Amino acid sequence: MCGIVGYIGNKKATPILIQGLTRLEYRGYDSAGIAVIEKDKIEVKKDKGRVSNLYNLDGIDDLKGTCGIAHTRWATHGKPSKENSHPHMDNDNLFAVVHNGIIENYNELRNELTEKGYHFLSQTDTEVIPNLINYYYKQDKENDTLKVLRAVRNACTELKGSFALEIICIKEPENMIVVRKDSPLVIGKGNGENYIASDIPAILSYTKDFYFLNDYEFAYLSKNNVKFYDTELNEIKKNTKSIEWDSKGAEKGGFEHFMLKEIYEQPRAIRETIGTRLNSSKVSFEELGFTKEYLETINKIYIVACGTAMHAGIVSKNIFEKLCKIPVEVDIASEFRYRDPLIDEKTLTIFISQSGETADTIAALKLAKEKKAKTIAISNVIGSSITREADYSIYTHAGPEIAVASTKAYTSQVTILTLIAIYCAEILEKADLAKIETLKKDLLSLPAKVDEILKDTSAIKKFAKRVYKEKDMFFLGRGVDYAVSLEGSLKLKEISYIHSEGYASGELKHGPIALIDTGVTVVATITDEALVEKSISNIQEVITRGAKVLVITNQNLENKGFETVINIPKISTEISPILSIIPLQLLAYYISKEKGLDVDKPRNLAKSVTVE
Ligand code: M6R
Repeated sequence: MCGIVGYIGNKKATPILIQGLTRLEYRGYDSAGIAVIEKDKIEVKKDKGRVSNLYNLDGIDDLKGTCGIAHTRWATHGKPSKENSHPHMDNDNLFAVVHNGIIENYNELRNELTEKGYHFLSQTDTEVIPNLINYYYKQDKENDTLKVLRAVRNACTELKGSFALEIICIKEPENMIVVRKDSPLVIGKGNGENYIASDIPAILSYTKDFYFLNDYEFAYLSKNNVKFYDTELNEIKKNTKSIEWDSKGAEKGGFEHFMLKEIYEQPRAIRETIGTRLNSSKVSFEELGFTKEYLETINKIYIVACGTAMHAGIVSKNIFEKLCKIPVEVDIASEFRYRDPLIDEKTLTIFISQSGETADTIAALKLAKEKKAKTIAISNVIGSSITREADYSIYTHAGPEIAVASTKAYTSQVTILTLIAIYCAEILEKADLAKIETLKKDLLSLPAKVDEILKDTSAIKKFAKRVYKEKDMFFLGRGVDYAVSLEGSLKLKEISYIHSEGYASGELKHGPIALIDTGVTVVATITDEALVEKSISNIQEVITRGAKVLVITNQNLENKGFETVINIPKISTEISPILSIIPLQLLAYYISKEKGLDVDKPRNLAKSVTVE
């Protein structure tokens, strides 16, 4: 999806803008552009294609300006083309604007502006914005210091939909204005310079101090200062927050792909996510501060998220129900938000989002708040939108995740959810203490066990070579192994474009087994001791029908006649998905690589889905 970068300071803006855009390439895009304030005009350079193409555009090396905005576009309104690329300007070339999000009423606004004499060069929804600002600017008879800001504010009050905007104006060459609504944007504070980005990794090598904007807050930047205003244009105070991430986290560090690097970062990500929460005799979440009285009023837990984060929720349903004896529903955020869910103040709702910017998950959280449920946000990004909406925020410490296919965020999410379940169980005093102690011990053993799996990946590579030309695959499992099968299947389809389905093994014979034929590949996960025999029978059924089978297990399945078995370390069943997903992540990775695909930036996908 679209990315935004901005710079205002003493240095030449162009290299900083292009470097920032390069760091945002992982988000997926089809065009790129920059606008820089030069002596007496705003210079725009843009085109469809890669960010690196910008270096070849005529005159780009001549840009000397120290204030500029930049954008990578992922086409929504209008095909990828030079005209549709951002930045866009108004008819008088006074303002340049980059925009992430969607303006839902752009047609009406375009018609109104056309009636007023404005014309449009692109098919985008964005182009109405600079012209609307132009309109308000010209209507305003005042000539005070807030004139440009007022025009931006007036234009924004007319916009419906979502937007993160950067605006520069030739009348104020030493300033820049940014504003957001339902689309991410952060401001990085430097020394005599300020940076803007839609994602922290874009500017992490310049600063670790960030301002976070709420919806409809306007930031008015100069190189030495950032002033914040509400919609009435009253000044508001904001402090920076420090981000611990190392800028190296957003680099490949010798790995061929970000995804592989992130798979190998999982031991550290899990260790840091556990952090000090397990050091005391009881698991601690001071930020939650739950009491027994409060938890006893809870009659339902909802876990809501999208994609991989939702799969982490499915894994954790089991442990919450087992330890806390509270029924748990796991829901897809885009469904939850539109189906009037039965929740009230007795419901505890947990929203999981690596990026913290997923539009559906944020909307689902807002709905839960409206219905008076307590809301917990679990995110990997400090200050992300979801954490600013929720009653409580809890962070995973996976570090920046760049590859579109989520890996270390997933294992960190399951880790933190397990810790929350234990935390609640210890307060409720309903769970078997020995079980809790085993789980705690097992959680601490996770990093070493993940390392053990990562030490030898030869069997997975070999299997990937064998099956990479396949058209269909099934991922099977029972209980938590079913949950992990869903995630294994998602990983494969995302980056290998092979059609795959995650299925509960026992459900196979109720329909999908009709698809099993000679050569179909089945990946089965078996880690639940209580279900081993049943799982084996299901696998035999597919082998009989000609399937090629890969089994991931921590059970002794020697002599069961399976051709390829990958053994993983033993651990409590409830958290075994944190281990069993690793070979599945690697399988997807090696298949994608074998097919010569763009592992980190699969087609049609974006790292954070900030629109519905
Ligand atoms: O940032 P989020 O965790 O909210 O993202 C949710 C999904 O879009 C994300 O997990 C997606 O499914 C990944 N590409 C999976 O690898």
